[in-house]
Amino acid sequence: MAFVTHQFVRKMVSSAARSAAVRHVTVIGGGLMGAGIAQVAAATGHAVVLVDTSEDILRKSTAGIEGSLKRVAKKKFADKPESGEQFVQKVLKNISTNTDAASAVKSTDLVVEAIVENLRVKQDLFGTLDKVAPDHTIFASNTSSLPISDIASSTARLDRFGGLHFFNPVPMMKLVEVVKTSQTSQETFDALVEFSKVLGKHPVSCKDTPGFIVNRLLVPYMMEAIRLHERGHGSKEDIDVAMKLGAGYPMGPFELLDYVGLDTSKFIIDGEFLHGLGHRAAVSLKVCLTDVVTLGWHAMEPENPLFAPSQLLNKLVAEGKLGKKTGEGFYKYK
Ligand SMILES: NC(=O)c1ccc[n+]([C@@H]2O[C@H](COP(=O)([O-])OP(=O)(O)OC[C@H]3O[C@@H](n4cnc5c(N)ncnc54)[C@H](O)[C@@H]3O)[C@@H](O)[C@H]2O)c1
Repeated sequence: MAFVTHQFVRKMVSSAARSAAVRHVTVIGGGLMGAGIAQVAAATGHAVVLVDTSEDILRKSTAGIEGSLKRVAKKKFADKPESGEQFVQKVLKNISTNTDAASAVKSTDLVVEAIVENLRVKQDLFGTLDKVAPDHTIFASNTSSLPISDIASSTARLDRFGGLHFFNPVPMMKLVEVVKTSQTSQETFDALVEFSKVLGKHPVSCKDTPGFIVNRLLVPYMMEAIRLHERGHGSKEDIDVAMKLGAGYPMGPFELLDYVGLDTSKFIIDGEFLHGLGHRAAVSLKVCLTDVVTLGWHAMEPENPLFAPSQLLNKLVAEGKLGKKTGEGFYKYK
């Protein structure tokens, strides 16, 4: 019993020591997700370096963070605007920017990557960083649809590589899916769980399988709604109303598709190919994943009817109707 207690205490101490070690975070990609991740990490006292490809993008990104922090401060310090301004300045002080990822990671504890959803680009980035980051540095990807183990394969730190899948908008959404590959060490996984908790998020543990938990359930659900409509079993309006009033969902599947972006949904199912290879060619040639920008879920599991592409979705994407962001998707937006 005493042994168990001693072990337990040792585990707690080592986990606390490990989480205390994540003080300096490098966030790569200052877009929608990276800016949000940098914001919450800085707001919880971490020293954050935000990296992107140009000064101009980084200026827009930090301006976005400042705007978001001001909105938080307005609510949090409604009666004390001066304290609100101090809060904003204090958090912004924790963020610096850099256009050179390799120099940014030289003394960092954790790298969180949130760049373009493209396997080869992510592999190139991590392959470069692996050579310059300290040994203890943990690498994590925020990818929504790529296998973490494929991204990690360009590095020699497979045990210190995992997934940290945040949700949009990051400052608001509580969930983080922490992804453990077959090679991620327990120590790394624990550190990522602990880091998520320190950010004020609720981590859940996921295996490195397509879509982890949330998207693995959500994407087939949205695709099935399109197929139901394609078969003439219901109008998109009726399907949306049915799921809101019958299942209690805050949005119907077509509203959700428009919100997520039809291109994003198509991309997850269909992927994107280099060298002009079609799905069939890629699968029959059994090309290595590194020869393909991104293998969609359909190509990964061609027999799975849940991952079958949709003609209607493809048509809307080809017409540039990508959802809310372009003013039209399944619905029109003013
Ligand atoms: N948008 C979402 O709802 C969402 C949710 C969860 C996860 N994700 C994932 O997060 C990642 C980023 O998505 P996003 O929506 O923030 O994309 P985004 O397009 O808004 O931002 C990507 C940023 O990465 C930068 N970038 C591209 N290549 C780079 C490189 N080599 N080095 C440094 N910066 C680089 C781009 O300039 C851009 O600013 C993707 O992997 C995506 O799958 C997105």
